[in-house]
Amino acid sequence: MLYFAGIDIGSLCTKSLILNEDDAIIGTSIKRSGAAYRGAGEDALNAALKDANLKSEDLNYIISTGYGRSRIPIADEQITEITCHARGSSFIFPEARAVIDIGGQDSKVIEINSKGRVLKFVMNDKCAAGTGRFLEVMAGSLDIDLEQMSELAKQSKKEVQISSMCTVFAESEVISLFAGGTEKAEIASGIYRAIARRVTGLASHIVSGKKVTMTGGVAKSKGMVWALSKKLKTELLVADDPQIIGALGAALIAKTKFNNL
Ligand SMILES: Nc1ncnc2c1ncn2[C@@H]1O[C@H](COP(=O)(O)OP(=O)(O)OP(=O)(O)O)[C@@H](O)[C@H]1O
Ligand SMILES: [Mg+2]
Repeated sequence: MLYFAGIDIGSLCTKSLILNEDDAIIGTSIKRSGAAYRGAGEDALNAALKDANLKSEDLNYIISTGYGRSRIPIADEQITEITCHARGSSFIFPEARAVIDIGGQDSKVIEINSKGRVLKFVMNDKCAAGTGRFLEVMAGSLDIDLEQMSELAKQSKKEVQISSMCTVFAESEVISLFAGGTEKAEIASGIYRAIARRVTGLASHIVSGKKVTMTGGVAKSKGMVWALSKKLKTELLVADDPQIIGALGAALIAKTKFNNL
C-alpha cells in the first residue's frame, strides 16, 4: 500500500492528514501552531501517523501547505493553501464551484472548476476582521467559548448591529453593549452577522449562483455557517471536519505528484 501526507501549517492551527492509495483518510490531527511552525508541523504529522498506525518511512510523498509551509524540511514539496483547499473541497463536494475558507488569520474566496482547479480567488489578509481570531477575541470579551457563542446566537430574538469591523473597536463595542444590558445572545448573533457582512462583501461576486462549500476552522461554528448562509442566500456545504480540507487537498496532490514522478 502507498501512503501520502498533507501538512497544513496555518497561522493558528496545524493540521495533518494521511491518505492511502485508495483515497481513504486513515489518520488526521489538529494542533495549535504556536510559535515554532517547524515543531508544529512535525508534531501534527507524527500525531496523524500515530492515528494511522504508520511510521514516517511508510510515507511515499509529503506536501506541506499553509502560512508556515516552507518551515518543514520533511515535506517533498510545498503548495499554496488556495490550491489545496480547492482540491480538498472538490474531493468532498464534487458539485462545489466556490470555496470560502475562513481560518485563524485570513479569509479567502476561491472559484473552482469541476476538477477542483483554481479559476480565481480573493483574499482578506490585511487584518483579523472576519476571521477566527476575531471570533475568539469577541467570545473572550463575552467570557464564553466558541461553542457557547454558537448556541447563544440561535436564541437571539433581536438584531443588534456591531458596526465596527476593526477587532479593537468591535471589542469595545461588544463590551459597552453588554454593560448597557444587551443580552449575550443578541451580541453573539450580531458578531456573526458582522463577519457574514464582511465575508459577503468579499465573496458575493464569486459565489453568486454557485454551489459553495465553507472550509477552515471557523466553518465548525454553526452560528457562523448559519449567519453566512443567510447573508449569501445560499446553503453552504460543510464537510464533517472542514478544518482539515487544506491538509486533505495537500495529501491528494501528493498522490498525484507521486504517480507522475
Ligand atoms: N468549534 C469551533 N467554532 C468556532 N471556531 C472554531 C472552532 N474550532 C476552531 N475554530 C477556529 O478556527 C480557527 C482556526 O482555523 P484554521 O485551522 O482553518 O486556521 P489556520 O489555517 O491556522 O489560519 P489561516 O488559514 O488564516 O492561516 C481558530 O480561529 C479557531 O478559533
Ligand atoms: Mg488555513
